[in-house]
Amino acid sequence: MKQLYFGDCLDVLKDMYDRYPQGLIDLIYIDPPFNSKRNYNILFEDVNMADTKAQREAFADTWSNVSYKDTLGELARINYYLFRFLENLDDIDIPKSSVAYLSSMAIRIHYMRKVLQETGSFYLHCDPNMSHYLKLICDLIFGKDNFRNEIIWSYQRWTGATSKFQSMHDIVLFYQKSKDKALYNTLYEPYSDRSKHKAKRFSNLKDNGSLEQSYTGDTSRMKSMRDVWEISYLNSQAKERLGYPTQKPEALLERIIKASSNEGDLVADFFCGCGTTIAVANKLGRNWIGADISHLAVKLILKRLTDPIAENGKKEFLSTLEINGFPKDIDSAKQLAKSDELLKKKSKHGAFDFQHWVVEFLLGGIRNPKDIADGGWDGYIIFPKNNNEKGRVLIEVKSGHVGIKNIREFIRVIDKEKADIGIFVCFADHLTKPMKLAAKEAGKYKPYQFDRIQILTIEDIFDDREIKMPGGVEPSTFKLSVKDVRPENKPPEMF
Ligand SMILES: C[S@@+](CC[C@H](N)C(=O)[O-])C[C@H]1O[C@@H](n2cnc3c(N)ncnc32)[C@H](O)[C@@H]1O
Repeated sequence: MKQLYFGDCLDVLKDMYDRYPQGLIDLIYIDPPFNSKRNYNILFEDVNMADTKAQREAFADTWSNVSYKDTLGELARINYYLFRFLENLDDIDIPKSSVAYLSSMAIRIHYMRKVLQETGSFYLHCDPNMSHYLKLICDLIFGKDNFRNEIIWSYQRWTGATSKFQSMHDIVLFYQKSKDKALYNTLYEPYSDRSKHKAKRFSNLKDNGSLEQSYTGDTSRMKSMRDVWEISYLNSQAKERLGYPTQKPEALLERIIKASSNEGDLVADFFCGCGTTIAVANKLGRNWIGADISHLAVKLILKRLTDPIAENGKKEFLSTLEINGFPKDIDSAKQLAKSDELLKKKSKHGAFDFQHWVVEFLLGGIRNPKDIADGGWDGYIIFPKNNNEKGRVLIEVKSGHVGIKNIREFIRVIDKEKADIGIFVCFADHLTKPMKLAAKEAGKYKPYQFDRIQILTIEDIFDDREIKMPGGVEPSTFKLSVKDVRPENKPPEMF
């Protein structure tokens, strides 16, 4: 089983519990947003553009004060002591946003325990601002006898002078579902720094904390692993870094997955971000489930999983995955478009899911922060031009009937916005010859040999036809389907 879910993990968990009330997962690791001032579930915040808006909205919906009273009501029915604890927190002087955060976590952790097998383990990654509250919540859900460790992930990273001791650790709370049945594989580490050096000589134990080799080292110099783990922080130079601000090191997940699962077991991460748990589980021959509320995260995971695979094997690998929450074929894409049309009829703003799916998931663009129903554009892609300038591709997505007038209108928008290239997306059965001609007449994107206005059908995109645009794209947009087209007879140093 290899399953990715795009959506709120609470919905995924409730549905899973309905289908598997006896539990199905062997190991759950989660690294939820931390509720610190920094908005931890924002992807690519360095982009400094509107692309984070959707994520902010998702964050607000899930964790805001609005819904936590409802969550408390739901908890009152399913775990009375948990409800009482949170209700009392609500009465004392801690920020409401913290109670909202803790209630949201509590209900999700409740269902995570439900979907674990009796032999299963649960790891909750958190920081010292919330870990003490979260531990009480986990004690109430798992039973305090099922608490195993508070793992300290200790790291070093550059900081200037501080007015207190430097904060250089995260906490991972480790619980098991039951006392006697739970699975635990003992891991080893060298006895001391001296034997660590020796073990390194014998077994190449890596400095970054990866423990692959410590299994093969001289185990007479090894002891059962402690709960303080020295593992390198992923700084900007780290090879495995993908540009995702809260990405965790693979070495950390390697320990957790090896200790609490065996090959073929099912590992899940319900806040999976750029997919560290999934990537390590996959490498170690585990089955896996990942969920994230950000479709950019889901897209990045797909890229992370397929990057190491040779080009001719990618499709086959993708066919072994189940991706939920996105259309998988033309029929389901049409269905999504149709349900959006219905919604748009009901409210002025409508739900722009179809457009978002095309712009951000299929084309790797960034959606227009202003959701304009008509006469505008739905998204953009930035590409580097000469002299540090940036070029802009505007994307317009139409799910319903279209005609030549839409193309002409789009050309006007491109001119008005002074965009470089325009991509018009529609379904194949709506595309007409006059539309193609009108796009052609807009000319080439000079000095390149491709059209300034390009029409792509959803069917084209499913068939891997690509946008033609110069050079690469900004790294943060993680394009999967842009072709690097260089102008004919131009020297490469232009890029
Ligand atoms: C701290 S990051 C996880 C990072 C991850 N461990 C990694 O190594 O890449 C938290 C993730 O939780 C996701 N998230 C936030 N609320 C969520 C929800 N209600 N359901 C599912 N995912 C959610 C965010 O989109 C974000 O990607």
